[in-house]
Amino acid sequence: MSINFKSSKAVRTDDTLITKFTYENSLVEKDAQGNLNVTPTAIDYDFKLDLKTPKTGLLLVGLGGNNGTTLVGSILANKSNISFETKEGVVKPNYYGSVTQSSTVKIGVDADGNDVYAPFNSIVPFVNPNDLVVGGWDISKAPLDQAMKRAKVLDVSLQEKLRPYLKDIEPLSSIYYPDFIALNQKERADNVFNTGKGGEVNTNNKWADVEKVRTDIRDFKKQNNLDKVIVLWTANTERYAELIDKVNDTADNLLEAIKNNHEEVAPSTIFAVASILENVPYINGSPQNTFVPGVIELAERYNTFIGGDDFKSGQTKIKSVLAQFLVDAGIRPVSIASYNHLGNNDGYNLSAPKQFRSKEISKQSVVDDIIESNQILYNEENGKKIDHCIVIKYLPAVGDSKVAMDEYYSELMLGGHNKISIHNVCEDSLLATPLIIDLVIITEFLQRVQYKRADESDEKYHDFYAVLTLLSYWLKAPLSKPGFKPINGLNKQRQALENLLRLLVGLPINNELRFEERLQ
Ligand code: NAI
Repeated sequence: MSINFKSSKAVRTDDTLITKFTYENSLVEKDAQGNLNVTPTAIDYDFKLDLKTPKTGLLLVGLGGNNGTTLVGSILANKSNISFETKEGVVKPNYYGSVTQSSTVKIGVDADGNDVYAPFNSIVPFVNPNDLVVGGWDISKAPLDQAMKRAKVLDVSLQEKLRPYLKDIEPLSSIYYPDFIALNQKERADNVFNTGKGGEVNTNNKWADVEKVRTDIRDFKKQNNLDKVIVLWTANTERYAELIDKVNDTADNLLEAIKNNHEEVAPSTIFAVASILENVPYINGSPQNTFVPGVIELAERYNTFIGGDDFKSGQTKIKSVLAQFLVDAGIRPVSIASYNHLGNNDGYNLSAPKQFRSKEISKQSVVDDIIESNQILYNEENGKKIDHCIVIKYLPAVGDSKVAMDEYYSELMLGGHNKISIHNVCEDSLLATPLIIDLVIITEFLQRVQYKRADESDEKYHDFYAVLTLLSYWLKAPLSKPGFKPINGLNKQRQALENLLRLLVGLPINNELRFEERLQ
């Protein structure tokens, strides 16, 4: 199926689509009496989309983990059309759970006024995940067939079919600074390059570690004849790095701190810095603060995309819908209690207090902007916060089937109360892997979009700002531009993505006015 968008606002020349778009908003100003003055605003932009999809490589940090092996397995299953037998019958490969591959976007109404939808990835050209060349690093050297078995995620009959494809893939050796991940991961660390002559771990050569990662990225690009590479962290959750003046506060101080082997520079920050210096986008799927201020400044300086933090897969995704729904309905959540137990290696790592703390911070922030949006419910008199508690326990028996139990306790009219309890069993890596696909596909796409203001005399088009907040839909604690507050509500995040696609093909941004039905 092909779609022919006939908007006069979008003009195609060869492999480029140029679109005119007026960004309408309203400026709100408070006067001395506290009244709000709201003035509509409009700015004209020209957008430019490169329609050619490049040969793209993906380097995962944590390739041998549950997400890493599930990602490689799912791409191979789809690419080679591998069906497999389960007790419920034959399962054909698919990308369920991926917005770009398995969701649709409303493109308009038919002659009778009924909504018409099209696949998300049919609006503009996107890289097909089947065409991604995937590689990466892991501190564990198990080849991917063994790593897949260790992960206990995929059905056994699928594993058997995938084994021949996976047995010769070995992760590149990686950086191990033992202080950053749980001590219990030590037994896994048999594939480490920052070692001394006797094989002992050496954390005193951090600039060499940056250089090694840069070389790995360049070699991967060359060996596979790639146009582009994206690096994504799906390795263990690290502890938070301390934010210290003159160490990680600016780009220059951070580069100096790496050269001085400062102890607060985490492996993930080394990967991020190496990627930025190579002009390769870097996405963080874990909760730690890889993106210290110095990294953000470096990404701005090199005009390289970064995005994070922490995949928003199960419990938090529901929270970012449910809390928004309650508050938008005028109901006042007063407490949210979230319990998890899980039995995979992620859970094992998170059983250590410092790594748990990174996850707790990331999970906690998700309702902040939702509370701030409603001053009728949350104010000086009633209180400005929700009691929010997060518990994670390691329970080996449940493996990758993470159990999440949440209780939302809310205040209703005239002192009434409402309690919503949710019991959610998430097959963790089967939820997270499609998110990785989306993050990569959208990041690559955003590299092909440029804009300029119509009133600018300069002919030069610009890239999006380095911190890609358009990825927030898939992330628990969205990194935002310094000075801006993150948007957590899932619907707002999705709207931004859909509207970007729509504006690029010359459609108006989404509205649900449905005049066809509502006006006489
Ligand atoms: P996992 O523990 O199975 O895999 C992590 C892999 O990273 C392991 O193979 C480990 O050996 C490797 N590793 C650790 N440090 C490394 C380093 N410095 N360099 C290279 N490799 C390194 O964990 P899983 O389940 O795949 O999750 C990965 C990350 O994604 C975790 O941080 C987790 O918190 C995060 N995440 C996962 C979600 C999910 O699975 N639903 C949701 C949200 C976040």
